[in-house]
Amino acid sequence: KQLREDARGCQACPLWANATQTVFGAGDPHARVMLVGEQPGDEEDKKGLPFVGPAGRLLDRALEAAGVDRNDLYVTNAVKHFKWQLRGKRRLHKTPAQREVDACRQWLEREIAAVKPRVIVALGATAARSVISKDFKVTTMRGRFVESSLAPCVFATFHPSALLRLRDEAEKEAAFEQLVGDLGLIKMALGRP
Ligand code: URA
Repeated sequence: KQLREDARGCQACPLWANATQTVFGAGDPHARVMLVGEQPGDEEDKKGLPFVGPAGRLLDRALEAAGVDRNDLYVTNAVKHFKWQLRGKRRLHKTPAQREVDACRQWLEREIAAVKPRVIVALGATAARSVISKDFKVTTMRGRFVESSLAPCVFATFHPSALLRLRDEAEKEAAFEQLVGDLGLIKMALGRP
């Protein structure tokens, strides 16, 4: 609660100026598993909650298929403000720059210190670059535990938005299965069947 309050007025990078609000992490504050996404999207920015838009709905489906209950998790983002550009009337997602990820890392580190998760899952390249390493390649290194001082078990998988962008149905289905398989590692890391 205190951290969320502290982050509300963050101006450590310029992204606060065009965002509706700081979208802090949400979920079980004592969760054994933390999911880290990239940054809030349009819906998240308006509602002030992470992963409640289209990517969040896909994530929910994948978690359910993997047998993981979202209520048991803490879900957050590497960057807490929505970065966007106007295209017509729509606010389109813009990938955060590394300096913006770096500016926001203090909040992620403090969330990790407060929640103390046993498992951290980075969703997509931006989160993996913040949580694991700057040269991490999700396509080739996803679904494998990596050595980290942040938590005993750390790995990365696809970002749900990457799946939403796939046009080919078969490709989308295959990527969804891979995402479900990777999220299933959470149970293994927790020592559950
Ligand atoms: N994408 C993210 O990375 N995080 C969200 O909260 C929503 C979409």
